[in-house]
Amino acid sequence: MDTTTYLVVTTALFAAIVNCCPPADRSALLAFKSALTEPNFGIFDTWTGTDCCTNWYGVSCDPTDNRVIHIILRGESEDKIIDKAGKTSYMSGSLSPSLCSLDRLTTLIVADWKGISGEIPVCITSLPHLRILDLIGNQITGEIPTDIGKLGILTVLNFANNNITGKIPPSIVNLGNLMHLDLSNNRISGEIPSDIGKLSMMSRALLKQNQLTGSVPISITKIYRLADLDLSMNQISGTIPAELGSMPVLSTLYLDNNQLYGEIPESILRNTGLNIVNLSRNALVGNLPDVFTPTTYFSMIDLSHNELKGSMPASLSSAKYIGHLDLSNNHFCGAIPAGSPFEQFEASSFSGNDCLCGTPLARAC
Ligand SMILES: *[C@@H]1O[C@H](CO)[C@@H](O)[C@H](O)[C@H]1NC(C)=O
Ligand SMILES: *[C@@H]1O[C@H](CO)[C@@H](O)[C@H](O)[C@H]1NC(C)=O
Repeated sequence: MDTTTYLVVTTALFAAIVNCCPPADRSALLAFKSALTEPNFGIFDTWTGTDCCTNWYGVSCDPTDNRVIHIILRGESEDKIIDKAGKTSYMSGSLSPSLCSLDRLTTLIVADWKGISGEIPVCITSLPHLRILDLIGNQITGEIPTDIGKLGILTVLNFANNNITGKIPPSIVNLGNLMHLDLSNNRISGEIPSDIGKLSMMSRALLKQNQLTGSVPISITKIYRLADLDLSMNQISGTIPAELGSMPVLSTLYLDNNQLYGEIPESILRNTGLNIVNLSRNALVGNLPDVFTPTTYFSMIDLSHNELKGSMPASLSSAKYIGHLDLSNNHFCGAIPAGSPFEQFEASSFSGNDCLCGTPLARAC
């Protein structure tokens, strides 16, 4: 071999070593690709050649050792390749367990492809570096892996808008770094783990539109950072914990369309941090608490379709701002107070009650 050839060969070898993902990562990705079909954009056409770290759409590697660390495939994306003109994103197939040999993966996002079915590979819980697991908007069936709690540094768990069944695994409370939990719009049944309050970093807990039963766990009210709680459209019963009203950063509370009974805790309408409260379509009884003040500020309070009774509390007209108020379809009676917060409401905010009267209703007092 002459010097020039030697140089060319070693340079090429060196380049290959520096630029290539390890063959094991490459073959795991190719097995993942072969279990999926993406007919509209051809994103997997870019998954070719030996160097999976360069130009493979949605794949990124650790720059120091070229191990695959991110797979980010979003159907709803602004990327050029996801050409919005005329074509909608769609992918069928399933998530290959070959993913689980990508043991340096920190981000797995396979979102909004509408047609990916099959189950979540259970071995996914053995990926020790996983921080973001987002499979929203597919047709995934089966259950959440029992030992999901092994993903100790997970911060985002999003399985929303799939067809997941079974219960919320008790081990989920071991996800001590979890900030965002979204299991909305699946067919998950059983109770919310009573020790869910162990998820002390959680700021969003979105469990709406499932088949959850049992009551609102008191421990959830101990989560200091919780800003958004959505348990709507389930079969949750019991009373509304008054402690929800003393949560320091809770801003949105959706408990609508459940089987909650008992009275509305005064603390909830007193909580000046709360901005949106929907308790519609439950079996709540008692009066509307007389707790409104000039610092009361809500974008939305919906208490419609309950069994609330009594008159409109005198303090209601002192509220600083209530953007949308719905008290319809209860058993309220008496005069609707006059005053600035009431001027923008329409009759539909008060309709379907026993004997409410005055503006904006047609019925005079
Ligand atoms: C998921 O649920 C939807 C609506 O309930 C249904 O149309 C679809 O067939 C289900 N898909 C699978 C894979 O079970
Ligand atoms: C409150 O929840 C009910 C029942 O789920 C829903 O129909 C209604 O639109 C919600 N209210 C608002 C203002 O979003």
